[in-house]
Amino acid sequence: MTYSVAVSGASGYAGGEILRILAAHPDVEIRTVTAHSNAGQPLIQHQPHLRSLAHLTLSETSPEVLAGHDIVFLALPHGQSGQYTDALGDTPLVIDAGADHRLTTQAEWDRFYGGDFHEPWAYGVPELAVDGGKQRDRLVGANRIAAPGCNASTVSLSLAPGVAAGVIDPSDIVTMLAVGPSGAGKSLKTNLLASEILGTANPYAVGGTHRHIPEIAQALRGAGAGGRIGISFTPVLVPMARGILATSTAPIAPGATDEQIRAAWESAYGDETFVQLLPAGQFPRTADVIGANTALMGLAIDRDANRVTVVTAVDNLVKGTAGAAVQSMNIALGLPEGTALTVNGVAP
Ligand SMILES: NC(=O)c1ccc[n+]([C@@H]2O[C@H](COP(=O)([O-])OP(=O)(O)OC[C@H]3O[C@@H](n4cnc5c(N)ncnc54)[C@H](OP(=O)(O)O)[C@@H]3O)[C@@H](O)[C@H]2O)c1
Repeated sequence: MTYSVAVSGASGYAGGEILRILAAHPDVEIRTVTAHSNAGQPLIQHQPHLRSLAHLTLSETSPEVLAGHDIVFLALPHGQSGQYTDALGDTPLVIDAGADHRLTTQAEWDRFYGGDFHEPWAYGVPELAVDGGKQRDRLVGANRIAAPGCNASTVSLSLAPGVAAGVIDPSDIVTMLAVGPSGAGKSLKTNLLASEILGTANPYAVGGTHRHIPEIAQALRGAGAGGRIGISFTPVLVPMARGILATSTAPIAPGATDEQIRAAWESAYGDETFVQLLPAGQFPRTADVIGANTALMGLAIDRDANRVTVVTAVDNLVKGTAGAAVQSMNIALGLPEGTALTVNGVAP
């Protein structure tokens, strides 16, 4: 069977990356692409790297245009998806790259986003530990999927094994994360001009204000964190087009041995294709995962500081968004999970 697909937000970064991956997917036909201010223009004008899709024209984003497809991807600014998802009741599978359907509690939505709260959907991070199993189990047959925030899934995947195994203390998590400007989307912003970001590293959303904090806490709660979860999260904008390098640390739980700590991550990811733990003493570079659907991580046990340190590299547009969305789509449809996805990065 060939599934018909519509991708909204197709002129943007996330929509463009969904299209790049789907263009190599043998089981889908990309029938419709939509945008907002750029509707009516050729897709190739906004995504000149998508040569095989040069025949497509951007339509206006509306429920009528998106209806009638087997699968609809929403890659819109947060707060915009809900109006379409409500109107797509007959669509067999809808996958939202935005934040609108990620959070399970309205209080967190109100505090970090604001605007209308929409029901939570199946979270599109298959490898995440949840309730003694994996999030993958909840994606089988799902018809509504919320793809993750790129920073959030990187940190959640980094620490969930330790939380699930009880070898780290989630009340005192510290994460510093370097991220490229594509994480902020394609629309013009003064702070993202080349002259503002080249040759400098810029911290932002410092001091507990970043919108991905409740998403990380929610994921770690799902992984088994019982008591208070404390996350000091500091993202830093760095001059690379794409990529995330997250350094996450948490105190070692009383009595946890080095063997138990490493075994927690090895058993969580030993059988996974797209989340890989490097041998002891090795740590990833963003270059190793650019273009790939891989989250690559290195683990250190710092007994002097009494903390576990996990360094994880992800391509924010692939494993952080579009790759996670397509991987989740494959699981939901019963297709081989890795269809159209690669573990190989583009380096140097
Ligand atoms: N970038 C990432 O690394 C990343 C990672 C994870 C999740 N996400 C999420 O993915 C979503 C899209 O992000 P992005 O980075 O792709 O942003 P982007 O590059 O700014 O693209 C936004 C897209 O949405 C369209 N759009 C803007 N306003 C709209 C409206 N009112 N109604 C319908 N369409 C509208 C734009 O169309 P025009 O160009 O025609 O105006 C464009 O196609 C966001 O919710 C973001 O949080 C992004």
